[in-house]
Amino acid sequence: MWGGRFGKGPAPEAEDFTRSIHIDARLWEQDIAGSLAHIRMLAARGVVSPQEANQIVQGLLDLKRAIETGKVMIDPSVEDIHTFIETKLREKVGPVAGKLHTARSRNDQVVTDLRLWTRDALQDVQLSLHMLQQTLIDLAEEHLQTLMPGLTHQQHAQPVTLAHHLMAYFWMLERDHERLSQSHHRMNLSPLGAGALAGTSIPIDPIITASELQFNDVIPNSMDAVSDRDFVAETLFVYALMMTHLSRLAQELILWSAPEYGFVELDDSYTTGSSLMPQKKNPDVMELIRGRSARAIGNLTAMLTTLKGLTLTYHRDLQDDKTILFETHDFMLPALNLTNSVLSSAVWNTERMRQAVIGDYSTATELANYLVTKGVPFREAHKLTGQIVLSCVQQGKPLEALTVEELSAYHKTIGEDVLQALQPEHAVASSLSQTGTAPLVVQAQIELARETLKNHRRLGG
Ligand code: ARG
Repeated sequence: MWGGRFGKGPAPEAEDFTRSIHIDARLWEQDIAGSLAHIRMLAARGVVSPQEANQIVQGLLDLKRAIETGKVMIDPSVEDIHTFIETKLREKVGPVAGKLHTARSRNDQVVTDLRLWTRDALQDVQLSLHMLQQTLIDLAEEHLQTLMPGLTHQQHAQPVTLAHHLMAYFWMLERDHERLSQSHHRMNLSPLGAGALAGTSIPIDPIITASELQFNDVIPNSMDAVSDRDFVAETLFVYALMMTHLSRLAQELILWSAPEYGFVELDDSYTTGSSLMPQKKNPDVMELIRGRSARAIGNLTAMLTTLKGLTLTYHRDLQDDKTILFETHDFMLPALNLTNSVLSSAVWNTERMRQAVIGDYSTATELANYLVTKGVPFREAHKLTGQIVLSCVQQGKPLEALTVEELSAYHKTIGEDVLQALQPEHAVASSLSQTGTAPLVVQAQIELARETLKNHRRLGG
């Protein structure tokens, strides 16, 4: 393909080291699509004759079918997928195949292929994400009244509901959904026509190829077009953040399914046993999601590190963008789908969750708020409540066990109605501020979330 200037071929070990077909073989469809658009554009501009273009188009379509049906197998000894497709095309249509690469370089070709691939990948990821968001909403709706401890510093802070907790993840994932759309929009531009780096003297029309491939526009600068991998870095960032969100949820499910918590039982089909301890039921799927988030972050770091020292324009370093992008994508999709399945099949022990907020002093804030409603300044209310808690802790009894008489000794404004302030159900139901944990408010949040889901649009291209 580039042998003219060379006295001899590459050393086998150099060839092995530089080969990428084992990674980029999965771009074969995009490569053919890009070539089809390119040859049609060359014909439209009169650079090749209609007959020549026809032969090449037919050859490419035949090749596509042959690969699809397994009649042609991708040869792992070739340098890369672009070389493979062109070689096969030449076998089919003869020397006219040599016209396909007019006004094109593998530099604009590979990045076109990868943009096309990533565009589709983002669609798949977004769909799985959407489905997981749907599950979170459905689950939240079922658990509007399910009490559980709300934590800060891993300590019981205030009671919340499982619905509220799950909806927090919904909104994290909604931002991820938005980021996927924005990344898709930013990357949906065509590099074709950039050539190796400088454009071409051949009278091409990059708008034609761009619109044939359903890109929104052409990248305005050919040097940027061949050296830019922002779209890979950005995708890896969105993936890394999404994996981070899934990892936090995984960590919670791992804890919640431990006997000390006992909040949830994960379904047998998403857990594994131990080869030694017969009683074990391990949350391996969740652990691997947590574990792979590390690789997602590592792969993002690898991409940024690759880019940071590269002068313009193309360098072979860029070839390895695909290794890390494909690797991350290949666990991103199952991580989303499995989180969805694990959540949908989990059984929640709502009584156990409720028990966890009984006697844990987490209604102390409500007691202080009660005093505030009686006109006591919050700082004073806070101090008084702290004293009440301390005395309870010393006597080893829960707040709920206090009588009105005991409580009113602390402040003359305390009356009968104080008792309900000590009930976690009451604390939750009265957290009615717009974003709070009261079922009434979370219900409205769920409706907003449903509306948001309805407005999700499938990505184009
Ligand atoms: N396999 C290469 C890659 O993935 C294709 C581009 C090769 N270009 C070059 N000038 N050697 O980046």
